[in-house]
Amino acid sequence: MEDLFGHRISYLRVSVTDRCNERCRYCMPEEEQTWFAKDETLSYEELLRVVRVGASLGIKKIRVTGGEPLTRPGVSGFCAELARIPGIDEIGISTNGTLLAKLDGGITIAEHLVKAGVRTANISLDSLDRAVYQRTTSRDLLPRVLEGIDAARAAGFQSIKLNCVLMKGQTERELPALIDFARQKDALLRFIELMPVSTQEVLSDDTFLPVATAKKLVEQTTGPLIESPDFKTNGPAVYHRVPATGQKIGFIGAMTNLHFCENCNKLRLTCDGKLRPCLGSYLEFDLRTVLRAGCTDAELAAFFQNVVSRKPKEHDFRHNYQPNRKMIAIGG
Ligand code: GTP
Ligand code: 5AD
Ligand code: SF4
Repeated sequence: MEDLFGHRISYLRVSVTDRCNERCRYCMPEEEQTWFAKDETLSYEELLRVVRVGASLGIKKIRVTGGEPLTRPGVSGFCAELARIPGIDEIGISTNGTLLAKLDGGITIAEHLVKAGVRTANISLDSLDRAVYQRTTSRDLLPRVLEGIDAARAAGFQSIKLNCVLMKGQTERELPALIDFARQKDALLRFIELMPVSTQEVLSDDTFLPVATAKKLVEQTTGPLIESPDFKTNGPAVYHRVPATGQKIGFIGAMTNLHFCENCNKLRLTCDGKLRPCLGSYLEFDLRTVLRAGCTDAELAAFFQNVVSRKPKEHDFRHNYQPNRKMIAIGG
């Protein structure tokens, strides 16, 4: 599948739930949430059917996301089914990490995921300071996340990435500890610019820390970084190498990198069954209704092609403010 701007679509992010056991400031408000009812969320069977059709059109990589995907029962079984779909050659999960070390039938959830064929785990880690972590996520779960990262290592994921959302006045102090921690754990650290999705009030001159500034601050700890254009993970991060240690650090300049969308290869399937061509565009298309009206696979394929043909050239967060469309439903 190729859009009007030559983007080749091979990556589908699938949000399996809008529920989460944390309340990150930049993702959703702390007050009482209303979640989608069970039948508003696509069933695993429905999701698998959509992925099968996507795979027949060139989708190769699936990222399972949420909400917190591991709050939905049966996620590793779902991933095992995904791995069986011909054409799907990479499955990753984006998680807050709090449930990875939880035991289920004697083994950790992380081990279940690896057994199911999930190769990469992207784990949110905004701070290594328990009080700061609690303030950011409204939950005192940093110890669980640290156990989760160890469980992920022990389970044998091919790659573990640590995602840190940049927040002015907070992240600056965290950088040396995060860099050191990622190196010790052999994890790929990425710094992400804050995006105004659903909670636009978080984005202001007081909170926004651009990746260019973060990179300069990182260099105060590591020495000059060298850009590694050959090192790519298929996502939007630009990676740099620390010459002294070989450590790679990624920067996701969603707001300031003018080339951010140039190589975009993805679509998103929201947990309530909307196919969305771009995170930073209000456009989305109601696949659930078509699916539940009994469409054929050929009709589903045509639906995919239509969504791809409507993919914008690049995101536009300024005109995308949708207070009722939460990041957790869209799928990060
Ligand atoms: P890899 O495939 O492992 O590189 O993962 P990824 O970076 O695509 O996924 P992850 O779930 O770890 O996302 C990291 C950050 O990048 C999150 O804040 C996402 O919202 C953001 N991100 C990922 N893809 C896009 C995109 O297409 N547009 C924008 N604006 N942000 C994105
Ligand atoms: N801006 C930037 N990144 C965000 N994430 C969630 N909300 C935002 C936002 N508003 C990140 C999470 C997670 C990833 C999937 O998306 O921290 O690491
Ligand atoms: Fe939950 Fe992730 Fe959103 Fe935080 S960013 S509230 S962990 S879904």
